[in-house]
Amino acid sequence: MTATIIDGRKTAKQVRHDVSIQVQDFTARYERKPKLAVILVGDNSASKVYIGQKEKACVEVGIDSVTITLSPSVGMDGLMGEVKRLNEDPNVDGILVQLPLPEDFDETAIIEAIDPLKDVDGFHPVTIGRLVAGDDTLFPCTPNGIVELLVRYGIETKGKHVVIVGRSNIVGKPLANLLLRRGNRGDSTVTVCHSRTNDLAQYTRQADILVAAIGVPDFIQADMVKDGVVVIDVGINRISAPSTKRGYKLVGDVDYDEVSEKASAITPVPGGVGPMTVAMLMLNTVTAARTREGMLGPKDHTLEEF
Ligand code: GUN
Repeated sequence: MTATIIDGRKTAKQVRHDVSIQVQDFTARYERKPKLAVILVGDNSASKVYIGQKEKACVEVGIDSVTITLSPSVGMDGLMGEVKRLNEDPNVDGILVQLPLPEDFDETAIIEAIDPLKDVDGFHPVTIGRLVAGDDTLFPCTPNGIVELLVRYGIETKGKHVVIVGRSNIVGKPLANLLLRRGNRGDSTVTVCHSRTNDLAQYTRQADILVAAIGVPDFIQADMVKDGVVVIDVGINRISAPSTKRGYKLVGDVDYDEVSEKASAITPVPGGVGPMTVAMLMLNTVTAARTREGMLGPKDHTLEEF
């Protein structure tokens, strides 16, 4: 079987284009741009790269962005004060505190301090609660990006058995809840496996759609999947590659060469799920702006427009 390669770069570009139209409409109507505020504490080099990608995407779609860089010496009180100031700023629609925070910061307390209406990461307990309850809310970007890839490639989720390997708060758990929701983007039967699952392959072999979010290179091997499976690889692992310029290369959690021989569709790494996360953040920012201005009621579901 020749697998369809699910192109996250191309799809993310399409999402950004669709978001830019919503942004234009919003900006004309309210005479201001949607605005995203990003807080970085310290100078983690990976965080700086991610923030650079977010800033670039904001420019592309017409969203205003500000990055606030704080020294770890501000402490919890200083960071909390900054979050409160952004909560109260009427021109700020989305707040994102870049994770991980340095040691000695209480990430949970900071996330809980963000106004849920501005919670564009979808990490606040109120946001998660609404997701689980099946209400409309801001959905976490990476899981929602995975669903968006499936929808845009015409891969039906209704009635399908989706097996997710990985139970993180950022990917596995929210994705399971998104796919369990009623409607076009959900209606799946979901199994969540993890590092303590007995006989993991027994589950992965039953998957119509297999999502790997483990963080172990080449963890999913060809004998763990059935013919025709759709494979979504969320892993981004650096492995040593002395022959390359950087000395390393990025691989996913799936043995791509072998598994792609059996799959009907598969995401590459890089260029699969990764680019979707920032695109969905753009969508959440314009959705937050529209909701705050009263353009969207609680029953509107912006993604259905796409
Ligand atoms: N660090 C790595 N990815 C993310 C993300 O999606 N959101 C936040 N806030 N921090 C991150």
